[in-house]
Amino acid sequence: MKKMCVGDLKVGMFIADSGLSWLEHPNLYAQEGLVTSQELVDSLVKEGYTDVFVDPARGTYVFEDDGRTPEQHMADGVLAAPERGDWSEAKIMLDRHDALRGEMNTARRLYAEAMQNVRMFLDAARDGSMPEIAACEVLVEQVIESLLRSDDALISLTKLKTFDEYTYTHSINVSVLSVSFGKSLQLPKSTLRLLGLAGLFHDLGKQRVPQHVLNKPGKLSPEEFEVIKSHPERGYALCASSGIKDAAVLRGILEHHEKCNGCGYPAKLTGEAVHLFGRIISVADVYDALTSRRVYKGGMLPNKALSIMYNMRGEDFFPGMVERFIKTVGIYPVGSLVRLSDFSHGVVVAANPSLPLLPLVKVAFDERMRPRSQVLVDLAQEKTLQGPRARKIVDCLDPRDYKLDVTPLVG
Ligand SMILES: [Fe+2]
Repeated sequence: MKKMCVGDLKVGMFIADSGLSWLEHPNLYAQEGLVTSQELVDSLVKEGYTDVFVDPARGTYVFEDDGRTPEQHMADGVLAAPERGDWSEAKIMLDRHDALRGEMNTARRLYAEAMQNVRMFLDAARDGSMPEIAACEVLVEQVIESLLRSDDALISLTKLKTFDEYTYTHSINVSVLSVSFGKSLQLPKSTLRLLGLAGLFHDLGKQRVPQHVLNKPGKLSPEEFEVIKSHPERGYALCASSGIKDAAVLRGILEHHEKCNGCGYPAKLTGEAVHLFGRIISVADVYDALTSRRVYKGGMLPNKALSIMYNMRGEDFFPGMVERFIKTVGIYPVGSLVRLSDFSHGVVVAANPSLPLLPLVKVAFDERMRPRSQVLVDLAQEKTLQGPRARKIVDCLDPRDYKLDVTPLVG
């Protein structure tokens, strides 16, 4: 899928539904179908729609194609470092995998505790109560410590999503992903503490939006859209009155729907006027929203979500942010179920920062997805082999389609 401006739509393109919440993206036109006339495009522009996703694989419009896969595009775009693929890279990946295995049980416990905590304060906020900041600070501290021990353990748990718990998992996931992203941007620990809190509370204001508007089936009126769009300001006010004094935390909450191109809300800020926390949280927010299952949509695979976000770089996101985020989570994030070119299947257990298309994979299934003896395969090392012996990833699959829980294989 490719994101573009509504005004740039051409006859023959196929408009696709990305699954992004239309509650939060009221300017996104998502009614699936073929663009049949220029008048249709003009009327969408007139109605105030600015963004649209098109599916190049459908429709009749011929897109320019340079023969690269979306994953190859991303790999070329995010690679600042030259390819190495040497043994030091292999050692880093094995160390990361060891750290992941050592941290997995602690991370599971921490995630379960976080769910209890977040459920409590989000439900309470709906009834008018303020979150207890001290308890949330302890939670964020534990998240940071876990991410310092292993970059991947908590992140791999953010992929286990159940749609009925989305409100709670989304708050935790955005906090975890923001801290991990901030860590890779080399923000100091004191800043990560604030960033983690801002991530945890970023959608708190939604709890104060009238529930009949938030849960209304069908299309919202422009007035109702405005109510939904008030959630960053409501969250800001709630957190400020709960005793949060730090301006960065408050601005992170207030500005998580601002966009680099000025099409966001509430203040239509542009470029560097958006606070760093807002820029970081917006990336984490969209990534988690796209990859989560909701009542009305299946979850998108991480590599597909990252590909869409990569195409939004410089528009929705500040230049360089998506590229750095992709470097943080990897094109095939840990926990991705992949098919290799020899038709065996495995789970990504460590990313290769220099060769993002060639991570460390634990091969565990045969070509018909039957369990087989498990073996760790460093795809970067196989690159030096000749012909078909140099395996690579040919597809990324959804474990739910095979009724698989891949987490025991990860940790
Ligand atoms: Fe939001």
